[in-house]
Amino acid sequence: MNILMAGAGAMSEAIVKGWISSGLEASITMTNRSDRERLSFLREAYGVRTVETEDVSEYDVVVLAMQPEGVLSYLEERRWDRQLVISVAAHIAPEQIEAITGGGAVAAMPNTPVSLRSGMTGLWYGRNITMEQRTLVNDLFLLLGETVETDERTMPAFMAAAGCSPAFFYEIVDAMVPVLDGFDELTARRIIAQAMKGASEILLRDERSVSELIDDVAAAGGPTDRGLQILKEKGLAAIMESALRESAK
Ligand SMILES: NC(=O)c1ccc[n+]([C@@H]2O[C@H](COP(=O)([O-])OP(=O)(O)OC[C@H]3O[C@@H](n4cnc5c(N)ncnc54)[C@H](OP(=O)(O)O)[C@@H]3O)[C@@H](O)[C@H]2O)c1
Repeated sequence: MNILMAGAGAMSEAIVKGWISSGLEASITMTNRSDRERLSFLREAYGVRTVETEDVSEYDVVVLAMQPEGVLSYLEERRWDRQLVISVAAHIAPEQIEAITGGGAVAAMPNTPVSLRSGMTGLWYGRNITMEQRTLVNDLFLLLGETVETDERTMPAFMAAAGCSPAFFYEIVDAMVPVLDGFDELTARRIIAQAMKGASEILLRDERSVSELIDDVAAAGGPTDRGLQILKEKGLAAIMESALRESAK
């Protein structure tokens, strides 16, 4: 399989890094418009092929990883031979792509942890996509973590919950680190991150309600319970809900 990454920025690199470390058997070519040094860096770092101009018809899969405003003109300026197109650009619907290429398209919304194969990717399939292509795209993103099917209605909230929320979690960690004085900053960060990772593992595997999971940690009147009371008094739930709704807008 020949994959072209059209766009060589942060998200393109995160996806390629994840695919390479997964052992994906594919030839990966990367390109951009102008930053040649960036292409040299990516070639050296990941052993991918890079090109300065590309003929999209040479590829089985074309991943559009450029800024959203460049996507439609990129598609219109090229001749398409029903290649499978995966766009990671926010706000571009698969039907907009299919209307130009005539082939199948998917709007994929990955997050940066795909680089470590711990990503969460929403997949919004177009109308022209075949069952075989659907399976292929899902398998490609399963190599980078978890996937979920999305659509026009669910994509905004998905983007906020999976794409934006890593920054919210970093903000929470940043607020917690100073309390761990006596530890250097990186150790403090590691302590909190490992606790978050453990909590995530439990959330992913244990289907009991969140309040039951809280009960496992917080005995009435104990230190966790007293900390939780502060979170309630200060309105953490309302803050998190507003932040997510704002990002989803
Ligand atoms: N970063 C994230 O967490 C994230 C998450 C999900 C989705 N996305 C989506 O991923 C896309 C890229 O985001 P990013 O953060 O990686 O942005 P970025 O770091 O700014 O990278 C954009 C890349 O696209 C290239 N490019 C622009 N126009 C091009 C064209 N016509 N042909 C080929 N290459 C072109 C740019 O290179 P030159 O300037 O040299 O042309 C650059 O390599 C965006 O659409 C964004 O919505 C990002």
